[in-house]
Amino acid sequence: MNSEYLKETAAIAALKFIEPQLESTTIIGVGTGSTASFFIAALSEIKQKFNAAVSSSEASTEQLKKLDINVVDLSVGRKVQFYIDGADEVAPDNSLIKGGGAALTREKIVATSAEQFICIVDDSKLVNKLGKFPLPVEVIPMARGLVAEHLVKLGGLPEFREGTLTDNGNAILDVYDLDLSSPDRMEEEINNIVGVVCNGLFAATRPDKVIIGGKSGLTIR
Ligand code: 5RP
Repeated sequence: MNSEYLKETAAIAALKFIEPQLESTTIIGVGTGSTASFFIAALSEIKQKFNAAVSSSEASTEQLKKLDINVVDLSVGRKVQFYIDGADEVAPDNSLIKGGGAALTREKIVATSAEQFICIVDDSKLVNKLGKFPLPVEVIPMARGLVAEHLVKLGGLPEFREGTLTDNGNAILDVYDLDLSSPDRMEEEINNIVGVVCNGLFAATRPDKVIIGGKSGLTIR
């Protein structure tokens, strides 16, 4: 049983959970990455049962449009009922690291806007404590050096993600070795560095539900 299959089972379980709650006015937020992509594929089967999707990246928008799913802009005051997305790490308290696909800022915006945030993962993403996966931080390109210096002061080892430009035209620093034992505090502290757009800790905005695909079936917490 490979992780792709487990991601797909989690994605389908999320669809089955929201399906009975959908109305013709419902707006669904969709994340980015391979797990979210399974969800988008499944969503196309029931596209007549909801109004539209709000996307967290250009890549997901492209997939949604190819599947003929109506995509609307969040900025015109849309009310998002559900946000479904994957994660890079999930801690026991459901705080997350996200941003492996460099879409963290838009993901956090849509997740924060949603009434319910449902995270879908395979069980390889479960960790006892956050931080083995380097923390992605989106930065304004000219502030890259300045932000890196601050991150070193916080105990981290930032690495510039070569060849990556976010959908917002910014750079990504992947930060190793940070102490993430108080994720809410670290999320806020990193956000306070001038030049940081957003960081991949999802502690202030945690999922309401995490659906985990594992070898012995699904777990929801
Ligand atoms: C993208 C993300 C993804 O949710 C995260 O990287 C997990 O990706 P995948 O579902 O491919 O394992 O945060 O920015």
